[in-house]
Amino acid sequence: MSSSATEVPSQTWPQIGIELLEQVSSRVNPRSQTGVVRRGDTKELLHFKRFEDLDQLYCEANALRWAREATLGRADVTVANVVGICPEQCLMLTEYYSQYESLFNYLWNSTSLLAFGRRFRSLTPTEITEQLVRWLKALHGTESPANGYVPGSLPCLKMIRAKLDALETRFSGTVSSATLKRLRGFADRFESEVALEQNVGTCRIHGDFVMSNVMIGPAGQLVVLDLADSRFGWPAEDVVQLWHQFWALGQVSRRRLREFRPCLELIEVGFGLREPGFSAKQFVLLRHLNAITSLLIFKIHANQLGWGGFVAARKQAMASLQWLESGNWGA
Ligand SMILES: Nc1ncnc2c1ncn2[C@@H]1O[C@H](COP(=O)(O)OP(=O)(O)OP(=O)(O)O)[C@@H](O)[C@H]1O
Ligand SMILES: [Mg+2]
Repeated sequence: MSSSATEVPSQTWPQIGIELLEQVSSRVNPRSQTGVVRRGDTKELLHFKRFEDLDQLYCEANALRWAREATLGRADVTVANVVGICPEQCLMLTEYYSQYESLFNYLWNSTSLLAFGRRFRSLTPTEITEQLVRWLKALHGTESPANGYVPGSLPCLKMIRAKLDALETRFSGTVSSATLKRLRGFADRFESEVALEQNVGTCRIHGDFVMSNVMIGPAGQLVVLDLADSRFGWPAEDVVQLWHQFWALGQVSRRRLREFRPCLELIEVGFGLREPGFSAKQFVLLRHLNAITSLLIFKIHANQLGWGGFVAARKQAMASLQWLESGNWGA
């Protein structure tokens, strides 16, 4: 097993020999589907996610169970419940959350002009943010922060460098060469500063805390999914990823900015993101990571989006680009 798989203690899993009787979801993603399955003599509706190898399967199943147990009873948000695995088919089976939708779709649709005044909202954006902030605190607080920083090995700096390389080679011209140079300089300076910092705590993080990895149910129940990228890192990595999505959604229109600004403030205050010193610098660094990621994702997936999705994604990516080019990184 890889080291990432063994970071969460290995667990035993009920092994379920399943037979797919009927597929009920029409998701485009062949990895992640829902169907009626037979196990033993009973039929059940389950969600199943297919992995390339057992290592990845155990890694995510263990991480989901860890996150679920660590936060149970400490927040209203829950984590997808893994009911078992089917090693022969490399499947992880989770409880099926019927009539849930992605948090991104929920926030997007419920704040659109067309929805104004008409759509019943089981939770407001600020209520959602409060719940997610509480959940993240519970998740990150479960292991005492270790001063685990090893110079040069910070995953988020590696990610930024890899993404800057992509902007220089595969996507050259996306940002100006002056900005690219400034970004590289910033990453280098940050790395030397962080090496002097004594209290950089790391803990196990979600690792991909995007709104499409959170579902919301008809009565406003929030369920976190997809811990495939869970790893050790700064708690702020999850936090700023969440912040960045509210920020990007707020850049689409003034009305949305009004809706989402209080969410940004809740996250900033809840985690002290703007506190002068290391926190503020870390916040800026992670904003870079998220802004660059959002630009690259747009470049890579733009042609797979429908017209509405394209326009919205373009506005968000352009806002990130503008922020990066402005050099006014405190704003
Ligand atoms: N237990 C579940 N019940 C209902 N729907 C689910 C469940 N688990 C996942 N889904 C749906 O499947 C989607 C993909 O799941 P997940 O994020 O775990 O897989 P993924 O491989 O990361 O897929 P993607 O690349 O689409 O994010 C989710 O966004 C959600 O819509
Ligand atoms: Mg996902």
